[in-house]
Amino acid sequence: MKTYLVTGGAGFIGSNFIHYMFEKHAGSVRIINVDLLTYAGNLENLSDLKDNPDYTFIKADICDTEAISDIFAKNDVDIVVHFAAESHVDRSIRDPGIFARTNVIGTLNMLNCARCAWADGEGFKEGKKFLHVSTDEVYGSLTDEGTYFYETTPYDPHSPYSASKASSDFMVKAYVDTYHFPALITNCSNNYGPYQFPEKLIPLIINNVLSGKKLPVYGDGKNVRDWLYVMDHAKAIDMVIEKGRFGEKYNIGGHNEKQNIEIVKIIIDTIKEMLPADDPRQDHINYDLITYVEDRKGHDRRYAIAPDKIRAEIGWEPETMFPEGIRKTIRWYFDNTEWMEHVTSGDYQKYYEEMYK
Ligand code: NAD
Ligand code: TYD
Repeated sequence: MKTYLVTGGAGFIGSNFIHYMFEKHAGSVRIINVDLLTYAGNLENLSDLKDNPDYTFIKADICDTEAISDIFAKNDVDIVVHFAAESHVDRSIRDPGIFARTNVIGTLNMLNCARCAWADGEGFKEGKKFLHVSTDEVYGSLTDEGTYFYETTPYDPHSPYSASKASSDFMVKAYVDTYHFPALITNCSNNYGPYQFPEKLIPLIINNVLSGKKLPVYGDGKNVRDWLYVMDHAKAIDMVIEKGRFGEKYNIGGHNEKQNIEIVKIIIDTIKEMLPADDPRQDHINYDLITYVEDRKGHDRRYAIAPDKIRAEIGWEPETMFPEGIRKTIRWYFDNTEWMEHVTSGDYQKYYEEMYK
């Protein structure tokens, strides 16, 4: 039985990862989910697990040394999977400070608490691993088609979000280089799937299409992202934990590059096709909802991952093709309207109104 400490497990990717782990390894993993429950954290994402004896939730701030040390002291943690972060670029442009605090100081605190708990003489106890979940945005922006981000691509972050994630990656690397700390890093492309907070492009567009609101497209709509279904990311993380080499980093991506405007049109077309012909919402669902708005400041033009290393070394490949993944995702949002109502009230609503008024 292995004990995992998952940070940020109440967020989008973290909650999907926890579901994946209990489906794949039921009975052989124990998971402690440590999350501060910011606007992005939602325990509803894991309500099915509340009676699972192998699952524990602890509300704590990753920057809180006493709270995190206490969790390590009371539990023999084998593996840390570190998701917790501020994750939205637009928010980072409005309020960079919280990104430095959570993403840089929080990661440093997690590393330090794990280092102290796992210390064994000059080295570390057997079997301990720290997986830092990062993003492809640390590499900056690509322009030319046919160029890709490799693990060797120099870091060139542009937004406060990507700069804070780049700093956290360097902090992990410093722990590996200085203390031979047993850490690994994954840098993944844009994820989509169930439980994603509707401030990110895909759930925002799905929600707005269904409720007949405008679909805000930044700039010319031709920025490109490389979209990966979230469960494929969860599987990649599980495989990197098992087979990855300490101190290494692995790029994860779907080889699924699309312009934002293509994504918006695919969502409109797919929702139209999936709704019954006599659904009253059919009347308002068309391309007229698309509204070009002012571009994001410092907007990265194109991200594209070369997942060659993870394929060769770990044997991981994306499995969910976009037409299937987007249908599964839309189906989930059709079936979880209450979830959407809950997360679109309160803080989010205020933010949304300020942003798109
Ligand atoms: P998310 O915003 O949905 O979830 C973040 C979670 O972290 C939330 O549950 C939040 O409550 C928690 N959290 C925030 N601050 C905290 C703190 N101080 N202490 C404890 N918990 C805190 O994010 P996500 O999209 O699930 O992303 C998870 C990780 O994956 C992040 O590190 C992100 O940088 C990385 N990533 C995301 C994507 C993507 O497309 N979403 C792609 C690549 C990498
Ligand atoms: P987002 O989901 O915020 O992810 P990231 O910025 O981390 O890649 O945005 C994806 C792309 O969609 C990005 O190019 C910005 C664009 N976008 C819009 O055009 N309209 C929107 O309302 C949002 C949220 C994003």
